[in-house]
Amino acid sequence: MTVHGHCMPALLLILFHIMPVAESSKMITGFAGDNVTLPCSYDTRKYGRVAVCWERGEIAVFTCNDEIIATDGFKVTRRTSPRYQLIGDLNQGDVSLTIISAEMGDSGIYGCRVKIPGWFNDLKNQVTLTIKSKYNRPFFFCF
Ligand SMILES: *[C@@H]1O[C@H](CO)[C@@H](O)[C@H](O)[C@H]1NC(C)=O
Repeated sequence: MTVHGHCMPALLLILFHIMPVAESSKMITGFAGDNVTLPCSYDTRKYGRVAVCWERGEIAVFTCNDEIIATDGFKVTRRTSPRYQLIGDLNQGDVSLTIISAEMGDSGIYGCRVKIPGWFNDLKNQVTLTIKSKYNRPFFFCF
């Protein structure tokens, strides 16, 4: 079967409608040099301890594509940089990502995927992070 080029936009629109990827989306703003926390949590009483991964970029359909940190629910199992930390209480399902000493280049989209067992059960939270320079604050309002 061949699909004519002009049909593709319509097909993609249908695909995006039947595959909503991120369930929730938040905006976080932080300042360069500060520790910045991107919130994500799940209910451990309902699901028990489950694996979670964080990725950079839009949340992928099936798994973390560009994974930056992962936990098995008890401890961090992988991370791509010591600047990425899970300092929340994993007992309580707090899998918020803390970025130590944020940099301008940390700005962008992040996805938290809670891997609830079973097909298409994963919880997906997307966070858009904006890091601002401390020196761009409009200090003239102080006078
Ligand atoms: C950032 O977090 C690290 C590690 O938890 C800590 O040592 C440091 O003091 C924190 N920095 C700030 C500015 O809070």
